[in-house]
Amino acid sequence: MSAPPKTVLDVSEQEAQAIREAVRAVDPETLGLGRARAELKHVPGLVALLSDVRVSGPIYDLPRPIGEDSITRWVTENQAQALAGEALLLINLDAAGEVSGYSRITVWPERSAAELAGAVRADLQGGGQGGAGMARTFGWIFETLGVRMMCLTAALDNVRSQQGIDAAGFTRMGEREALRPDGTTRHSVYWEMTRDDWRLRHRL
Ligand SMILES: CC(C)(COP(=O)(O)OP(=O)(O)OC[C@H]1O[C@@H](n2cnc3c(N)ncnc32)[C@H](O)[C@@H]1OP(=O)(O)O)[C@@H](O)C(=O)NCCC(=O)NCCS
Repeated sequence: MSAPPKTVLDVSEQEAQAIREAVRAVDPETLGLGRARAELKHVPGLVALLSDVRVSGPIYDLPRPIGEDSITRWVTENQAQALAGEALLLINLDAAGEVSGYSRITVWPERSAAELAGAVRADLQGGGQGGAGMARTFGWIFETLGVRMMCLTAALDNVRSQQGIDAAGFTRMGEREALRPDGTTRHSVYWEMTRDDWRLRHRL
């Protein structure tokens, strides 16, 4: 139930179309860290990963309850949205070939905007990997998908996420009611970042 950024950019049909095509054509391997598009063969690994509340608890837009059926549907829906150029569901594979994390990128081509949600397996949390992965993914989204704006939300008590997002230079813009698939809401911290600001901070 992702919501597009509060800030509305002026976006031409041509720009929106280029973003859709970039999402369809993207090669997740260019992001590194064993990333691949989620496919039905990854459903058991995703169910195992997301059944751990330390992984899925802080994420508002996952299907619930988490199980074989709901995650199969989620992967299939994401595959359809990827074909439409409106989402990417990526998994991380560890050295043993196990699903050790995921990222879901929601894209609004007509808004030139994207949002990222994701998690890493509990044994990999708190060691610096997630923060580094987040920063790398933000840059990749701006440069590979071509969007000019990103927005993010995190639960008010999610210190690691908030710290990682602040460290990447996103601007806090108040709070937002994030809508869960079951219709309930979660009070969240809300951030935005433009591609121009990202380039200034991370390239120059
Ligand atoms: C959010 C998540 C991806 C972060 O990955 P991680 O590997 O655990 O995080 P890191 O160890 O890189 O820490 C991230 C930041 O929090 C800081 N941090 C870690 N533990 C902290 C603590 N107890 N108190 C304050 N800051 C803390 C780190 O110093 C780092 O800040 P920096 O980027 O300025 O160096 C991971 O914890 C996770 O999957 N959590 C469950 C799902 C989730 O919350 N997803 C995000 C929803 S918005």
